[in-house]
Amino acid sequence: MTSGGDAAGMNPAVKCAVEYAASKGYKPYLVYDGLRGLIDDRIVEATREIVSGIMHKGGTILRSSRSQRFFDYEYRKQAYENLKRRGIGKLIVIGGDGSFSALNQFYSDFGVPFAGIPATIDNDIAGTDYCLGVDTALNMIRQSVDSIRDTASSFSRGFVIEVMGRHCGYLALTSALSCGAEICLVPELEYDLDSIGARLRYEMEHENRGYIIAIVAEGTKMSDYLTRWIKDTLDMDARLTVLGHVQRGGSPTVHDRIMAYKFAVAAVEALDAGETNAIMVYRDGTYGHLPIHAVADTKYKLDPALVRLGKPLAR
Ligand code: F6P
Repeated sequence: MTSGGDAAGMNPAVKCAVEYAASKGYKPYLVYDGLRGLIDDRIVEATREIVSGIMHKGGTILRSSRSQRFFDYEYRKQAYENLKRRGIGKLIVIGGDGSFSALNQFYSDFGVPFAGIPATIDNDIAGTDYCLGVDTALNMIRQSVDSIRDTASSFSRGFVIEVMGRHCGYLALTSALSCGAEICLVPELEYDLDSIGARLRYEMEHENRGYIIAIVAEGTKMSDYLTRWIKDTLDMDARLTVLGHVQRGGSPTVHDRIMAYKFAVAAVEALDAGETNAIMVYRDGTYGHLPIHAVADTKYKLDPALVRLGKPLAR
């Protein structure tokens, strides 16, 4: 099943999990509509036909949801009955830490083991350096920023580009560094507008700077303010582009497809080895898994080396 915000790479993960589990003698099923579908019995036996030709598709063919009802024991019981009736004894959930915690509650209630595959463009799950969907989202952002740069430079304007990430600045910081932005504001980094202003004014006066690209994480809630600030303080016409959900779509990149395969194989193997509530992680170049509490009870921290690289863009 896929759950929570959709992310590119979910489909390759579904395909690989189904095929690998089948090759190990399991009978795989698919849950449509995430936790909602678990409650409402939208469960079908997985066939080769369903998981064929989906590698290149963004989003999730299984669809997804964020279910309030799953917080309620009675609905979880209903979900359990749906699984029991079919003899389904293990779950693989592809999603974020909210979905993992929900499944952990389900495990405490009814003893159904699960394995979690991290998938969210926010890249904010503790214990793993990578979540499915991030590379595809970064490439969508890169393409948009490159296009905006064309009009910004042609029209001598400042552009503030707001990117997603919820409370996490990973997307914004990585995009700012890879797209050559002049300004980057993320929740994890203190910024100093006076110093940014002095730096850019100097460049405008002495180095012929004609436009500005600023990448702002949605979690800072600074996009409108910064756009006005560029107009008022730097006396440069400015526009705000909120990239929005375009960042969540698109065909998964090669990196997301391969990561999906690795995570899916690891998830099947973890369940096969008797793990009961493990989350697949990729850390310092190594694949492994962590117990749910190590992931759900820990706050994700942005890589300090990345934050250091971004400092010059916030002052
Ligand atoms: O968690 C993924 C994410 O796309 C965030 O980056 C964003 O803040 C949020 O989901 C948007 O949620 P929704 O799709 O419900 O508007």
